[in-house]
Amino acid sequence: MRFILASNNPKKLKELREILAGLGAELVTQREAGLLAEAEETGESFEENARIKALFACQALGEPAIADDSGLVVEALGGAPGVYSARYGGETCGSDAERTALLLTNMAGQNNRRAKFVSCIACVFPDGRETAARGECVGTISLSARGESGFGYDPVFELPGTGRTLAELTPEEKNAVSHRGAALREFEKKLRGLLND
Ligand code: IMP
Repeated sequence: MRFILASNNPKKLKELREILAGLGAELVTQREAGLLAEAEETGESFEENARIKALFACQALGEPAIADDSGLVVEALGGAPGVYSARYGGETCGSDAERTALLLTNMAGQNNRRAKFVSCIACVFPDGRETAARGECVGTISLSARGESGFGYDPVFELPGTGRTLAELTPEEKNAVSHRGAALREFEKKLRGLLND
């Protein structure tokens, strides 16, 4: 069986490809399958956006499709940047460093620094079957950016009890505690169950 990944991100492809290989299935990106258009992420939740992207690829290509959506949810900012994490600050922020700096500015003087990363993965089959998984990583927004590894908001996301930001962890350490790692592990279980039904 072949699955379409509704993303062209090589890192996501590698992670999901390993899981699907364990299930005896193949994974190709939507571009490799000939689909160049991308779904508009109009959902108000990570779950909705992941499903919108998977459904778009599944309907366009007539094959089972997988998509993910993720982001940072900050309590004191009413859940922002949330589903807009990649686009936080709009045109004025063109890089991860600028978005992270904007977040720190918006958090200035805030005592409540609680936040979480969320990752949702959705899988849609042409016959209507669907499954989805969600993972979370709880932490706090640091007072300044620290660390060089990872990406996005990792340098300002501190793990409780460690004094370290996600950007100060090795990729293996991050995977063991991250929202994406948790979502992937749950997704593997659910997809295995669905395929064995
Ligand atoms: P997407 O799901 O690939 O669209 O990612 C959404 C955005 O959320 C990314 O561009 C990052 O800004 C942020 N994000 C998601 N996961 C992480 C993470 O593990 N570390 C840091 N930032 C993340």
